[in-house]
Amino acid sequence: MGELRDRHGRIATDLRVSLTDRCNLRCTYCMPAEGLDWLPAEEQLTDDEVVRLVRLGVERLGIREVRFTGGEPLLRRGLVDIVRRCAEEVDAEFSLTTNGLGLKRSASALAAAGLGRVNVSLDTVRPETFTRLTLRHRLDDVVAGLAAAHEAGMRPVKVNAVLLRGVNDREAPELLAWCLERGYELRFIEQMPLDAQHGWRRSEMVTAEEIRTLLAEHHTLTPVAEPRGSAPAQLYDVDGGPGTVGVIASVTESFCGDCDRVRLTADGQVRNCLFSTDESDLRSAMRAGVGDDDLVERWKAAVAVKLPGHGIDDPTFLQPPRPMSAIGG
Ligand code: GTP
Ligand code: 5AD
Ligand code: SF4
Repeated sequence: MGELRDRHGRIATDLRVSLTDRCNLRCTYCMPAEGLDWLPAEEQLTDDEVVRLVRLGVERLGIREVRFTGGEPLLRRGLVDIVRRCAEEVDAEFSLTTNGLGLKRSASALAAAGLGRVNVSLDTVRPETFTRLTLRHRLDDVVAGLAAAHEAGMRPVKVNAVLLRGVNDREAPELLAWCLERGYELRFIEQMPLDAQHGWRRSEMVTAEEIRTLLAEHHTLTPVAEPRGSAPAQLYDVDGGPGTVGVIASVTESFCGDCDRVRLTADGQVRNCLFSTDESDLRSAMRAGVGDDDLVERWKAAVAVKLPGHGIDDPTFLQPPRPMSAIGG
């Protein structure tokens, strides 16, 4: 078995596969109201190409976990089939990161197809704030989607929340209470410079420290005893547990040194980091008839040159041209 090892000794075992760059929400910290220039259909990997690369990753390169992302992956026609084929053909854990809109309809089929768990993005449980943040009136659909995932037996059900100062930051304790009541694992994420508008400002970002302070007005947080490993979230027991809350401090307490992730975009480019500026074009290689051995070597070479960190604090930092929605978070 080969492995995806970089020059700094990190080994990628967690593959994040974006299945579309499209989305049916317009979170203001992610993309503009008018949307983006979506990938043309012919540039998107076919279902067969996705399954082939997932198989190669797992069988030849040591990938153990596969997360499907977007854009919004539930917009990908054939998602359930892709999950089923992957889960039948290869031995890995499968999960999904979604905005939850179509989850009510598809949760049980996804679970039956072999999807183990979902992470759902939800930044507020107030309808007005939801609309202000996403420019859509769809809070009820997300809430129903989360419930459907829980009912379908997916565990844990995680909720991802990005806080924006003056928009939803003061609602953090309310969102936490809502998630704890329902048994969802909430994680707050520091906003990263990956928005399509390039409007991110470090000084405006709600930091992990501020998040903990906001929550501490209502709760006692204690870091959980278990080692965190390569997980992006630092977990805290809330009021002695058993409920927890996570903080993903990508910017102020970066975890790049323990990163075990590699990404595949919807158009078949390997990215060794969210912030990489280089990509390796496996789609063109596949379509040119390149064989499995060669694809595996190209993939390894792409990961080998992964930089030690995202470099957001470097004076020379440049935001990558691809926004979060086209990388897959
Ligand atoms: P779990 O396996 O459930 O822990 O998933 P996850 O937290 O890795 O995935 P999810 O898709 O829910 O991502 C949550 C947030 O963590 C998103 O904002 C991601 O962009 C961020 N995140 C995930 N992986 C990385 C990473 O490698 N680097 C950075 N900086 N952020 C990441
Ligand atoms: N910084 C941090 N998280 C982001 N997300 C989207 N854009 C950003 C950003 N610029 C979150 C979404 C989703 C997860 C995949 O990433 O809210 O929960
Ligand atoms: Fe929101 Fe994610 Fe869609 Fe961006 S890609 S608009 S964060 S749901």
